[in-house]
Amino acid sequence: MRPPPPAEPIGMPIDEIDTPVLLVDLDDLEFNINKLSTHFSQAGKHLRPHTKSHKTPAIAHLQLQAGAIGVTCAKLGEAEVMADAGIDDILIANEVVGRHKIPRLMELARRCDIMVAVDDPDNLADLDTAAAAVGVQPRMLVELNIGHDRCGVPFESDAVVDLCRAVHNADNLRFAGIMGYQGHVVDLPDADERETGARQCLDRLSTAVANVRAAGLQVDIVSTSATGDYYVSTTYDAVTEVQAGSYALMDAAYGALDLGFRHALTVLTTVTSRPTPEQVITDAGLKTLTPEHGFPLVKLPSREGIEVGWDPQGLRFLECHALSEEHGRLRAVDGDCHLQPGELIEFIPGHGCTTMNLHDQIYAVRDGRLEAIWPIAARGKVR
Ligand SMILES: Cc1ncc(COP(=O)(O)O)c(C=O)c1O
Repeated sequence: MRPPPPAEPIGMPIDEIDTPVLLVDLDDLEFNINKLSTHFSQAGKHLRPHTKSHKTPAIAHLQLQAGAIGVTCAKLGEAEVMADAGIDDILIANEVVGRHKIPRLMELARRCDIMVAVDDPDNLADLDTAAAAVGVQPRMLVELNIGHDRCGVPFESDAVVDLCRAVHNADNLRFAGIMGYQGHVVDLPDADERETGARQCLDRLSTAVANVRAAGLQVDIVSTSATGDYYVSTTYDAVTEVQAGSYALMDAAYGALDLGFRHALTVLTTVTSRPTPEQVITDAGLKTLTPEHGFPLVKLPSREGIEVGWDPQGLRFLECHALSEEHGRLRAVDGDCHLQPGELIEFIPGHGCTTMNLHDQIYAVRDGRLEAIWPIAARGKVR
């Protein structure tokens, strides 16, 4: 067997790293993490960042060091990775069902403080039985449908109080509170529409919380919201913590909302072909980054002061218009592009969360040099 290629040395200039490769700019990452942490501490609310966006324990630890109270995960497998990395306070903002996963959840509850969403009485009974078998008492958040129409008990139904009471009465589960996620509004491009939509959902959440409290139950945690509406959520008395995820890395889709975060995540890619004066082909395609939220924006690291493809002032002269498996296809918008094969471009991915899931590692860089290589340890953990 061939030996693996040597790891790139720390301190290497980024333009010497083999491509395609995921980069995170540490100055930009730290800016984003500190911006949101400061907002939450000033608002007297908690931030529990969603790790589905980066799947990287090293980034989760930076978020915790900056004041996050714990992490949110989408999948049990992600939560296991975060627990392996020494993180204790973990919310799985999703239902965990069935004979394969519930025993795993209870094993996880032996080694960290795990919280999980629940929206069904039968699932609740299964969780209670499994918790008893292992001798643990995990915390539960009852999930409400506050408008996204995905998981959750309908916010206006009597079932909300009934399910909360059932959790409270379960011998081996702890009722911690309520969660609701308004994923259908958090990325609306119009800021007013986004805020109005978020307020409608957060009003529903607040009403349901009041009803549960009026029924005599203690609601310690009310968890909600995302990057696109974080500033709305902190104006609500009922909300105690927020699950924002994308703010840390910031992709092109979220960047268009102008939320004041920086694009920390890029894909470094090499120009491999210039078949015509207008066409630029690179080595990053669908197996390197995902296009479901739009094609990547283009940034030219080698040309000081020029970042193209996303500048509203019209610096755009090169745009990605197609991705095939291993090729990015770009065109020079005004025909004036001097890039030659071998030169480098950075892509700002359209969707960061699914792009991260394609890679084993992310290269952490500062001032154009490699500072660390971090495993994306939760990539592929879809179970
Ligand atoms: C339940 C839940 N909470 C929070 C988030 C975080 O969203 P964002 O990455 O937009 O901040 C998501 C995103 O899909 C989610 O599904």
